[in-house]
Amino acid sequence: MSSDIRFVDGIEGVEWSTVKEDLVADEFDNGRTPKELQQSFEKSFAVVIAWKGERVVGTARLLADGVCNAYLVDVWTSSGERRQGIGSEMVRRLLARVAGHHVALFTEDEIGFYRDLGFEEERTGMSRVVGHWLNRDATGVDQR
Ligand SMILES: CC(C)(COP(=O)(O)OP(=O)(O)OC[C@H]1O[C@@H](n2cnc3c(N)ncnc32)[C@H](O)[C@@H]1OP(=O)(O)O)[C@@H](O)C(=O)NCCC(=O)NCCS
Repeated sequence: MSSDIRFVDGIEGVEWSTVKEDLVADEFDNGRTPKELQQSFEKSFAVVIAWKGERVVGTARLLADGVCNAYLVDVWTSSGERRQGIGSEMVRRLLARVAGHHVALFTEDEIGFYRDLGFEEERTGMSRVVGHWLNRDATGVDQR
């Protein structure tokens, strides 16, 4: 990994509209506005941001109860910075915060990445959206 990558536990200084643009460019955007992205990270148990100079090049966050259950979300390395160890370092830092927890995640494409970090596939995953995703209707209008 290039030595100019910095890992920060927290979101201070993050420009969320730029992160949103970069997520869209990487086709890893799930529809949240910059403000909603900020809220998601603010309300998380633990957050790691990877910086290269003034630019965010990686994100990862954990939802956790501090006792037994945690959930890994928004693990992303900017496409121009992949395969240097940034993603693994972010996940390792988050896992260090939740000793003793069962840590779950959903992924479709990155099985190898998570296996290398000690995750194992489980037979059943179930999930649902309550109402509409992000409370938007079919035309994208916020229903709240
Ligand atoms: C998954 C992701 C976060 C990995 O980030 P990264 O910074 O490139 O990860 P690392 O450099 O730490 O990769 C570590 C190891 O994981 C494995 N790995 C990473 N990406 C991989 C891929 N696309 N296919 C297979 N193995 C992969 C490799 O073993 C790699 O080590 P190597 O480069 O020495 O071969 C990044 O590809 C990404 O942002 N993808 C799009 C978003 C996404 O799918 N996130 C996960 C959703 S839950």
